[in-house]
Amino acid sequence: MKNYILFFVIVVFLSCSEETKQVSEEKQTYEKAINELLSKMTLEEKIGQTNLRGTSSRSKILPEELKEAVRKGNVGAFLNVMNLDYVDELQKIAVEESPNGIPLIFGRDVIHGFKTIFPIPIGLAATWDAQIAKSSSEIAAFEASAAGIRWTFAPMLDIARDSRWGRIAESPGEDPYLATVLGRAYIEGFQGEDLSNPTSLAACAKHFIGYGAAIGGRDYNTVNISEPLLRNVYLPPFKSAIDAGVATVMSSFNEINGIPASGNKFLLKQVLRNELGFNGFVVSDWNSTTEMIAHGFARDEKHAGELSAAAGMDMEMTSTAYENHLKDLIKEGKVTEEQLDEFVKNILRVKFKLGLFKNPYRNKEHTGNFYAEKHLQEAKNAAIKSTVLLKNNSVLPISQNIKVAIIGPLANAPHEQLGTWSFDGEKEHTNTPLMAFKKANTKYVFSKGLDYSRDKSTDGFKEAIKTARNSDVILFFGGEEAILSGEAHSRANIDLPGAQEQLIKELAKTGKPIVLIIMAGRPISISNIIDDIDAVLMAWHPGTMGGEALHEIMYGIQEPGGRLPVSWPKTAGQLPFFYNHKNTGRPADSVKFVPIDKIPIGSWQSSLGNESHYLDVGYKPQYPFGYGLTYTNFKYENIQISKDTINFEDELSVKISLKNTGKRDGKDITQLYVQDAVGSITRPVKELKRFMPVFLKSGETKEVEFRISSKDLEFVNYEMIKAAEEGNFNVWIGPHSASGLKKSFYLKK
Ligand code: NOJ
Repeated sequence: MKNYILFFVIVVFLSCSEETKQVSEEKQTYEKAINELLSKMTLEEKIGQTNLRGTSSRSKILPEELKEAVRKGNVGAFLNVMNLDYVDELQKIAVEESPNGIPLIFGRDVIHGFKTIFPIPIGLAATWDAQIAKSSSEIAAFEASAAGIRWTFAPMLDIARDSRWGRIAESPGEDPYLATVLGRAYIEGFQGEDLSNPTSLAACAKHFIGYGAAIGGRDYNTVNISEPLLRNVYLPPFKSAIDAGVATVMSSFNEINGIPASGNKFLLKQVLRNELGFNGFVVSDWNSTTEMIAHGFARDEKHAGELSAAAGMDMEMTSTAYENHLKDLIKEGKVTEEQLDEFVKNILRVKFKLGLFKNPYRNKEHTGNFYAEKHLQEAKNAAIKSTVLLKNNSVLPISQNIKVAIIGPLANAPHEQLGTWSFDGEKEHTNTPLMAFKKANTKYVFSKGLDYSRDKSTDGFKEAIKTARNSDVILFFGGEEAILSGEAHSRANIDLPGAQEQLIKELAKTGKPIVLIIMAGRPISISNIIDDIDAVLMAWHPGTMGGEALHEIMYGIQEPGGRLPVSWPKTAGQLPFFYNHKNTGRPADSVKFVPIDKIPIGSWQSSLGNESHYLDVGYKPQYPFGYGLTYTNFKYENIQISKDTINFEDELSVKISLKNTGKRDGKDITQLYVQDAVGSITRPVKELKRFMPVFLKSGETKEVEFRISSKDLEFVNYEMIKAAEEGNFNVWIGPHSASGLKKSFYLKK
């Protein structure tokens, strides 16, 4: 037996080292080819490689000027060329007519699907399922590559703690650990095992960095993040993306601590290259180089180019500071040619990895199988797993025999349910809830009530109320149209827009139970109507297959599988809100809390014992991070840890007994949180460190075990050293961030 194992180990070792040898030989071959190519390139051609030209996907003609630029070798890549003939023609010119025949890369925002649209990224994050993140991006790559696209501007890895920010829709949510797990999976899905496979896409980890911390949740706004916060919260998802081999990184629009990211030497050189070891290329965001003029950081276009070059930004998206000025900047000695050579090498490396030198053309046989049954089923599964059940007064699941009233502006809104960044998904292929109800022959009556989410007209109310009266349960499909979230679509007020609340209040007067199904790009403040409704399902913008997914959830064919990847605020006034906050010197406390209406009239100036609260809404969110109900119930019992004291080399086992106490089989997402009680810098009150889906039959009990070590307890301190510190820790296992059974242990040197 022992010999057999030894043999197996040797074989594995030899085949691994064979593989490593092969990879390093391949690498050497293309590093050699890159250097050879570089030695033949003129300064103009080198600058050309740094140029990412944008065209409009709606463009009807391919301008001669563009073809000529490619012919001269003045363009390195394109974004948004969506006419297949143009893709083919431009690539042919680059390969056959440009001085060194360097192929172009065609990029596109393929964010949550290409034709088959998956839930928006915050919805995918709500699945807490790396496999779904991976398969959705694999399918997106497969479909998009059929259009000649080999580069996507995804995944977005910005930690987002403010639901006012429109781009929270595209984010992995508020937690660095969850974002890290998902980020890795997205990259594996987009890039596949081998980037040279023509159905893969080079991924782009964006936006480097801190974009989600825009003050007040206002897009593009200033960002101030201390270095430890940057390293502990905002950087980990990018580190995991780079470890997973992400081919490109996008520098963000925002300034961070006074220096715009696209001209930030510390971030792009020190952190990204030297510390994280990134060896792909960095692309600016759209015009983010020349926007440094408006930031008040660059004097003019030329200066902007100089600053971006000094920071180590390799490719410029759409603006033309490099194209217009790099030559002069090099002549004047402000930028060195060696620096430019580095940019070109980084770009060519990705082109080699993509296999573009061997295989530059779109494979015309590869149709992408748009909307293939398998793709649609995966999209439906993702929508089911991303839907979060927030409230349920036993009204869900509904029985087949009752008559439902389908009401609301998003019940049949094929374009809106696709969400932000779904340029290529066609609404004609969307399956809406109304369509799904129709197809399933369910007993329903329908009245929109409001035409679109912002509709303020009450003209449709009468009909909607009549429809509601004629039913046993009201399903109100509300939320936001797709355009109300995403880039440049921040909101100060995150209530249901238009007259939706008013209509819900009117419907509540019929006495019929109401299920609110929200489709939106962010958590929506529902505190004004929460008492009028019996159940709430958050479906985010669920994508192409949202209708069938929701239909099956409501009838209990499937259970809603999602958990919140962000804290759900009661009101926008609480934002930014995140569970992994610090304790403060006067931590919020429900016992001492004096709500606004209990303050004695004419009170003398005093804190009244209040701590870190809002007088009007307290300190708790509507629903905490990690929260989500199921159609069954789980009981957590008997938490155990393997040791009370561990040293730095030990592993700690933390176990719980989990029982499905309900009548249905179901899935729990069991979560483990840790708190470092005292640190050399203050530590968050809780941090997610592990999670696991656990399936239990009705009545079944399972032991759920997690293992952690001192590695999981590390953080970056004020000296910028990453280490775990000796001391007391608390650990919880529970269903979400605000609940769980607790134990304590000591980490000893
Ligand atoms: C600007 C956005 O910030 C970025 O995420 C996107 O990839 C580019 N535009 C290209 O469309």
